[in-house]
Amino acid sequence: MVLADCVGSTLRLPSTPMLQSERATGIQLKNEKHLAAMRAAGRTSAECLAYVVSETQPGCTTQDLDDLVNQFAKRHGVTPAPLGYRGFPRSVCTSINEVICHGIPDKRTVLREGDIVGIDVALICDGFHGDNASTIGVGEIDEPARALLCATLEAQRRAVAVVRPGARLGDIGHAIQSHVEKLGYSVVRDFVGHGVGRQFHEEPQVLHYGKAGRGTRLRPGLTFTIEPMINAGVPDIEIQDDGWTALTADRCLSAQYEHTLEVTEDGVRVLTVQNDEGTWEPPGRWTPPGFEV
Ligand code: MF3
Ligand code: CO
Repeated sequence: MVLADCVGSTLRLPSTPMLQSERATGIQLKNEKHLAAMRAAGRTSAECLAYVVSETQPGCTTQDLDDLVNQFAKRHGVTPAPLGYRGFPRSVCTSINEVICHGIPDKRTVLREGDIVGIDVALICDGFHGDNASTIGVGEIDEPARALLCATLEAQRRAVAVVRPGARLGDIGHAIQSHVEKLGYSVVRDFVGHGVGRQFHEEPQVLHYGKAGRGTRLRPGLTFTIEPMINAGVPDIEIQDDGWTALTADRCLSAQYEHTLEVTEDGVRVLTVQNDEGTWEPPGRWTPPGFEV
């Protein structure tokens, strides 16, 4: 692994990032057989996330969401990827309000009306990983929360829209950063998207900020995630004593949407969707009130 201090998920960047050009060597493109398996893994992971989202309501504990993932996985004969990954103790990440990512489900944490909760579902299906996440409102949410969710989801959609052969990783980061910063939000730097396949986290790292026209060129057969974490306040993070839970340094809200994607011969196929065409849909099929799909 190229990363010195990778904490899982979304990988944590090393303090001295390697140049994109140095990393490029480790990228493995998928063949048709691998891609078929990735599409199946993506579809199943999308179904699981949509299922958990549909069951989430005020009064649920985060452990209830974990139970749903385990139940779904058993029924479909697949494996939750987070469980035991670098020691992560549960099958899904549940990240409430100021938690950016990697929240650990437990029986004591109850979702309350007005919370936003990020649900990050990754499954291993026939040896290949699907990875997707959505931040949803619990019951009715206030306007600042709604606006943050809309901005983050729109940033995710714009980033997916730039993916095609010949586009560069910097185009993705730029699409996200330029959209959210003009609205006064910030992009989390410490966690990044990633290549995905037989391994949960493969090369390349996919930064959610950057300059258009820079970085590694995308090629057909690359499968990777785009999963921007956007903060209402400062971009800085803090890790709690459990070694996982990442929260905003200023305790302002944070949101995230994630899809697994495939670079095709002429564009992009979103793998973590429930349509056959691979066209973008909101992760978990949930949209904030007022978001135009
Ligand atoms: N699905 C997360 C990601 O986007 C991974 C979290 S799983 C954990 O990469 F085990 F690392 F917490
Ligand atoms: Co991911």
